[in-house]
Parts: sequence; structure tokens; C-alpha cells
Amino acid sequence: MKYSEKVMDHFTNPRNVGEIENADGVGVVGNAKCGDIMKMYLKIDENDVIVDCKFKTFGCGAAIATSSMATELVKGHTIDEALKLTNSAVVEALDGLPPVKVHCSVLAEEAIKTAVADYYNKIGRPVDFEIEKAHDEE
Ligand code: FES
Repeated sequence: MKYSEKVMDHFTNPRNVGEIENADGVGVVGNAKCGDIMKMYLKIDENDVIVDCKFKTFGCGAAIATSSMATELVKGHTIDEALKLTNSAVVEALDGLPPVKVHCSVLAEEAIKTAVADYYNKIGRPVDFEIEKAHDEE
């Protein structure tokens, strides 16, 4: 199995690792098959801009690399833009993943959407989007 340089870079030197205290939205997701867990924290300002984003991933290298890349792709962007971020876009930004590892990238998309849903629940905004579940994937 061969990983791209970008995957190796984000795996060995992941960006935005950690927690945000008093985060506006937190999303915890897991893949039941491999047991990997990802926790995503979002800080959102009054204009719906994600001003900070941090993650903790207890999982495989591909899951760590995709969560790292996903935080970079949503940071500084609006919630609407973040909700449009698909796992394939994250994989593309990493110059690809081996096919057996693509399911790991679904966790990152799911974690961000779950964190946004948590924020919506907190502020009483209806959750009007679907969250694709990583564990439904083969
Ligand atoms: Fe579990 Fe990659 S093997 S997320």
C-alpha cells in the first residue's frame, strides 16, 4: 500500500490537533468496524464562520491525515462551505488514498457535520442536512 507524500505529511505532522475549550460544536464519531474514533471541535463566530477547528483522532494513519486536512479545509470558512466538504474532496486534497482506506476519510466528513449539528442544536437551529455514516460504508 502506497500513501501520497501529503498523506504522510499530515499523518506525521497533523495540523490542528487538540481540543477547544467551550467549543460551539463538538462531533464525536466512530467506525464500528475498526473501532477508530474521531472528535472534532468547532469555534464559530456570529457570522457563521468557523474561526477555529481542532480534532483528536484515535485511529489509523489515514483517519489522522484526513482529519488534519479536513480541519485545514474548513478553518476560516463558513458553516455552509464546511457542510459542502465531502470526503472525496478531502481525499483529493491529500492526493488520493488507497481504495481500502477511503472509508477512513468518511469519518472526517461525518465528524464535521456532527459538530455543526451539535452547534445547531445548541442555538436552536433546525438540522437541515444529512450526515453520512462511516460505519454504513463497506
Ligand atoms: Fe479505521 Fe481507518 S481503519 S478509520
